[in-house]
Amino acid sequence: MTIRRLPEGTVNRIAAGEVVERPASVVKELVENAIDAGATQIDVAIAGAGRDQIIITDNGHGMARDELALAVERHATSKLPEDDLVRIAHLGFRGEALPSIGSVSRMTITSRARGADEAWQLHVDAGRLGDLQPDSLPGGTRIEIRDLFFATPARLKFLKTDRSETTAITETTKRLAMANPTIGFSLREAAREIFSYAAATGEAAARDRLAAVMGRDFVDNSVSVEAEREGISLTGFAGLPTMNRGNAQAQYLFVNGRPVRDRLFTGALRGAYQDLMARHRHPVVALFLSVPPEAVDVNVHPAKAEVRFRDEPLVRGLIVSTVRRALAGAGHRASSTVAAEAAAAFRPGGQGAFYGARPEGTSRTGLYEAASAFQYQAPPGMPARGEEPDGFAPAARPAEVGLGEAPEASYPLGAAVGQLHQTYIVAQTADGLIVVDQHAAHERLVYERMKKALQNGVARQSMLIPEVVEMDEAAVGRVLDRADELAELGLVIDQFGAGAVVVREQPALQN
Ligand SMILES: Nc1ncnc2c1ncn2[C@@H]1O[C@H](COP(=O)(O)OP(=O)(O)OP(=O)(O)O)[C@@H](O)[C@H]1O
Ligand SMILES: [Mg+2]
Repeated sequence: MTIRRLPEGTVNRIAAGEVVERPASVVKELVENAIDAGATQIDVAIAGAGRDQIIITDNGHGMARDELALAVERHATSKLPEDDLVRIAHLGFRGEALPSIGSVSRMTITSRARGADEAWQLHVDAGRLGDLQPDSLPGGTRIEIRDLFFATPARLKFLKTDRSETTAITETTKRLAMANPTIGFSLREAAREIFSYAAATGEAAARDRLAAVMGRDFVDNSVSVEAEREGISLTGFAGLPTMNRGNAQAQYLFVNGRPVRDRLFTGALRGAYQDLMARHRHPVVALFLSVPPEAVDVNVHPAKAEVRFRDEPLVRGLIVSTVRRALAGAGHRASSTVAAEAAAAFRPGGQGAFYGARPEGTSRTGLYEAASAFQYQAPPGMPARGEEPDGFAPAARPAEVGLGEAPEASYPLGAAVGQLHQTYIVAQTADGLIVVDQHAAHERLVYERMKKALQNGVARQSMLIPEVVEMDEAAVGRVLDRADELAELGLVIDQFGAGAVVVREQPALQN
């Protein structure tokens, strides 16, 4: 066996495999470099979904002739002055991006250092360096990437459709724009402008930029979040529960100005919204964590898209409790989008928004879900706590309630005036209308009762005839593993042969 060193070109292409996965990763690396260079305006132009051409122009501090030559060398960086991998203050620190990109494309860098008389240009073709040429450029840096992955055709095959590559580029650039509100950003594809955000200034800069990127709707229908614990600070906006989506795409987390995706974050948000949102729905959130550099490791992912916190429970706890508190403070405010939609559905002659198109991100069930989350007290003609929902019919009682009567303030759900489709209770409050999904409301009542019972220890009652439940062996194992927890919830079980458990006691919930 002969051991030999790999040629530099090969090493760069291997590194490129990790750093440069698709056109969006090139855009990310180059925009990050421009941010690190102190640019206040960054313009991105792409053609052929980034495969044919990517041009990034910035007005940052630029590079002098010698720096330019160094920049495309592996592990050449200006950003780790003390060789300190703990206190990383820039987005870049590896000196990996430019040589990697240059090894799998045709790259032309033109740059003019601040205060320098001339600009210089360097061309790299599949890792082969050209000569430094004088060029003209008013200032800053312009990097053009052509024919990405032409040198690694296998990688080209893994790319998705033009549409999804362009979407990935748009998403990546938007995330960086959200994290850097004082920098102007634009993105164009051929002649089409995808977006253009002017540099935001002043105290409301972060908020203005979020409104520009995520829409006014988001900022208007969210609560602001602010907290600090043990040197870690959390700011941003959490969408009202009524503003929810079918996936977790619209959840943005930034750690020290770096957009990251993190399972910890998704889990924390689930915890924060747990009582307020149906399980399959996802909140819309933009949160910014500011963490002392030594409390977080950004060096755990080749594209720096993940981070590792030294004290994960602390960060998780901070997110869950802060978001929860902010949402509780918002009380029962419902998203104005959903509310407007509901109102439109009742306008005489107006097209029922419930049956027509609805704005993206709003759900028809949102209002009902919100309503079912309200504190519940039975008005006259409505079921008392614990009563089975099937056993009553508010529709039969409207006369008793009286349509014109002002409902008493002590009934947060107002006075029931009717029932629709045997499912929705329509109630009137002093200044509004409430629609309650009675099944959801009932589930909620049971759930609230169980939560309350849990605080005082759930009362159990033995079953006269124990119930045998058959399930596969693996499931039996899983259930028995958690027998203690189940007992706390009032469910006492035992093994019953290989493929069954027997339930001996069950919760005795008081009404
Ligand atoms: N747009 C730019 N303006 C000014 N200098 C730049 C620009 N882009 C790159 N540089 C210089 O080139 C160097 C190499 O860039 P490169 O992206 O390869 O590495 P890095 O940013 O230091 O680290 P990383 O690999 O983590 O991105 C940078 O350290 C910086 O000095
Ligand atoms: Mg970089």
